[in-house]
Amino acid sequence: MYICTRTVKVMNRIDVVLGMQWGDEGKGKVVDVLTPRYGTVARFQGGPNAGHTLIFDDRKFVLHTIPSGIFRDGSVNIIGNGVVIDPVILAEEIAKLEAAGVDVRSKLWVAKRAHLILPTHRALDAASEAAKGAAKIGSTLKGIGPTYMDKTGRNGLRVGDILSPQFAERYGALKRKHEGLLAQYKDFAYDIADYERQWMESIEVLRSLKIIEGEIEVNRLLDKGEKMLAEGAQGSMLDVDFGTYPFVTSSSTMCAGVCTGLGVAPRRIGEVYGIFKAYCTRVGSGPFPTELFDEDGQKMRDVGMEYGSTTGRPRRCGWLDMVALKYAVMMNGTTSLIMMKGDVLNDFETIKVCVGYEVGGERVDYFPFETNEQITPIYKEFPGWRADISKVRRWEDFPQELKNYVEFIERETGVPLGIISVGPDREETVIR
Ligand code: GDP
Ligand code: IMO
Ligand code: MG
Repeated sequence: MYICTRTVKVMNRIDVVLGMQWGDEGKGKVVDVLTPRYGTVARFQGGPNAGHTLIFDDRKFVLHTIPSGIFRDGSVNIIGNGVVIDPVILAEEIAKLEAAGVDVRSKLWVAKRAHLILPTHRALDAASEAAKGAAKIGSTLKGIGPTYMDKTGRNGLRVGDILSPQFAERYGALKRKHEGLLAQYKDFAYDIADYERQWMESIEVLRSLKIIEGEIEVNRLLDKGEKMLAEGAQGSMLDVDFGTYPFVTSSSTMCAGVCTGLGVAPRRIGEVYGIFKAYCTRVGSGPFPTELFDEDGQKMRDVGMEYGSTTGRPRRCGWLDMVALKYAVMMNGTTSLIMMKGDVLNDFETIKVCVGYEVGGERVDYFPFETNEQITPIYKEFPGWRADISKVRRWEDFPQELKNYVEFIERETGVPLGIISVGPDREETVIR
């Protein structure tokens, strides 16, 4: 028998930040808090359906396409191949950041293989949602679904195409294809003329950025020993495969998406930070077993300012769902949990956590396939902490009730909880 004794080179790994719920967990804030430890931040999926909020030095920014590392001096921020880009939204984001004195251009790289959202993709998104009526997904209407459809259907336009002399021709061909599809929606009227003009102008902005072979650069940086963080968008329960289909987004929001969305091998994945709110929110349609329709839900919305960062829509609010959280931990291989917005529950006498579901008279501990099933949550109750935790900066100083809540989550998931966020500001963070 021959046994190879050569040692395998220890690989520098990429760490990952992911939403464990239905999005808006606070990924932007966490990436901003973690970036001093990383030289590079890379988005690997989603597009301008995302809205990631960062608050520091009394300033607030909402990012849609640009990675949340952009504010840190000397950082590299990569928009990976798995992302879909609307040039108009990207150009607006850059202009806003530059107006606020942020140097974007020297820090932003865009992968050639990332797909472009065309004005007609947006129209198709709107037409499809309108045709669905009450069964609509509740899409952000940014053209995400139709763009990923063209990607997997092998019709898409990519960032690298804007460098080709045939770009106008390719754009025209895809636009005509979309016009044919739109014609089938008899009652749907649209006018993209203005947006298309802005889109063409914004293509010039995109052309002026550093356009890279994403997978080559990402692996080169990792091989050089660079510390890199992948920034997820949306959340696990919106994943196209494992979320509450069809009420999901059109990309792989889970850890696996990092591999295809940046071009890194599975064994290069390092820490997986799973972010969740101390309760739950969801925006758009679809099942949400712990949703509250009472004053507790309204209180979460009011105190947590639960209104969409991208669309301004009120977010649906409810108790923490352990079934969904454990599922997300399993699917992502989460190595460290991060709890956000505990401060929103400061004033609740009792806090509930869903520890199982009742479906068709039976108890289940997983999310059922059938989204029309009536799911009744089974709750465990915890006494609230009834104290303002927003000024706490050390684990030792938290009320015992909050420590009990955190330790319960750790026991149930089997994953340590390393960071607790107690307010929207960068500084309002407790690292254990
Ligand atoms: P993302 O999409 O995951 O980046 O999250 P969003 O930015 O869409 O939504 C999170 C919202 O909660 C933002 O308005 C943040 O400023 C805010 N936020 C983040 N962490 C905390 C926290 O610990 N407490 C409170 N009260 N707000 C927070
Ligand atoms: P971040 O990154 C919350 C939801 C939409 C809708 C469904 C499909 O900020 O957490 P799409 O526009 O992708 O076709 O919409 O997914 N959704 C999000 N919800 N946060 C997001 O992003 C979301 N991106 C999409 O509301 O229900
Ligand atoms: Mg958001």
